[in-house]
Amino acid sequence: MCKNFAAGRLHYTTDYAAAYRDADAIFIGVGTPERADGSADLTYVKIVARQIAETVERDCLVVVKSTVPIGTNDELECLLREALVHDVQVEVASNPEFLAQGTAVRDTLQAARIVIGTESREAEAKMLEIYKPFNLPIVSVSRRSAEMIKYASNDFLALKISYMNDIANLCELVGANVQDVARGMSYDERIGDKFLNAGIGYGGSCFPKDTKALEFLARRFGYELKTVKAAIEVNSRQKLTLYRKAVQRLTCFDGLKVAVLGLTFKAGTDDLREAPSIDNVELLLGQGADICAYDPVGTGNFRKMYPEGRHGCGSIAYAKSPQEALQGANLCFIFTEWQEIKAVTPDAYKTLMRMALVFDGRNIYPLQAMKDAGVEYYSIGR
Ligand SMILES: NC(=O)c1ccc[n+]([C@@H]2O[C@H](COP(=O)([O-])OP(=O)(O)OC[C@H]3O[C@@H](n4cnc5c(N)ncnc54)[C@H](O)[C@@H]3O)[C@@H](O)[C@H]2O)c1
Repeated sequence: MCKNFAAGRLHYTTDYAAAYRDADAIFIGVGTPERADGSADLTYVKIVARQIAETVERDCLVVVKSTVPIGTNDELECLLREALVHDVQVEVASNPEFLAQGTAVRDTLQAARIVIGTESREAEAKMLEIYKPFNLPIVSVSRRSAEMIKYASNDFLALKISYMNDIANLCELVGANVQDVARGMSYDERIGDKFLNAGIGYGGSCFPKDTKALEFLARRFGYELKTVKAAIEVNSRQKLTLYRKAVQRLTCFDGLKVAVLGLTFKAGTDDLREAPSIDNVELLLGQGADICAYDPVGTGNFRKMYPEGRHGCGSIAYAKSPQEALQGANLCFIFTEWQEIKAVTPDAYKTLMRMALVFDGRNIYPLQAMKDAGVEYYSIGR
């Protein structure tokens, strides 16, 4: 990026008209958040489409990177063509984005595949030309298939996570260890070794909204998408699995000092959208817990939702290190697998906490290591 910027090939502007006016291709990557009913909110994508229609002065290809329900690209093309101010040809191509937060540059430059969805040879040729320098596998399909590939991929990953969480819960009941089970499964190439970690459920900006959006879309077509529906249900239950374990152990949290390690939905991002920490913190505060939270990058955003101080009968404060959060705590929850948190030794829980009682949603520690250190340790599926 720096190289291209220095060569004068990369410019930034807030003047959208200047950016769109004489572009050959315009990429849309704005948010498509979840509405209250689970459907995708297309307001921002449609605003951009109108802004493009009002400003383009030459033929161009509009490329939709945002994750949009199947059929949206057709709709956007109609909207664009109806709203055009100048006498130009505009076509829409689907080009769903598969990058993950925290590894965006690598996922872009070394993508597993590039999916393009077009309805004309001209549009397909332009997309192939744009992506030629990437030298990556390209899957060229219809617009609707491209839109579906994105949802089907994301929802499959969400399903894989929920499946392992479901198996983890059963492992606990039958006395098996989900990490050993996952290892045993991973040697089968049909299963693979990725996304087999059990935990406190997925969060973030994509899996929660993309599962709900596809399930909503299926319902609109009179079809019950049972597998995805189950993934959503398992995930919402899983987010509170640690909280339920803690309630079973302690009954109530009133006046207890609770250390919370990790707030973001995963390590490597400051994103708190749909983070399991939020549901848990909300419940703990409602139960009168005095929380001291640590996250290497997420506290700034979390503070905006929960400023330092009292919240109902509980309170929250923020620590600069995991050790500071653990100091004098009655119990500890681990919600994110940050390196800084993984680096906390089992002995540190024993020496810093008032009661060495740990609920780990990321299965960070070997059971024996925590036992040897004298920590009462609850994790997922073990
Ligand atoms: N976040 C991810 O990891 C990821 C991965 C794959 C696909 N996606 C998809 O990409 C899209 C964006 O996701 P996100 O997480 O980056 O969302 P986001 O809300 O963080 O970012 C969207 C950006 O678009 C800007 N924007 C809104 N209206 C605009 C307009 N009219 N003109 C110019 N800019 C405008 C916003 O200011 C914001 O910066 C979504 O459809 C999402 O499903 C996201």
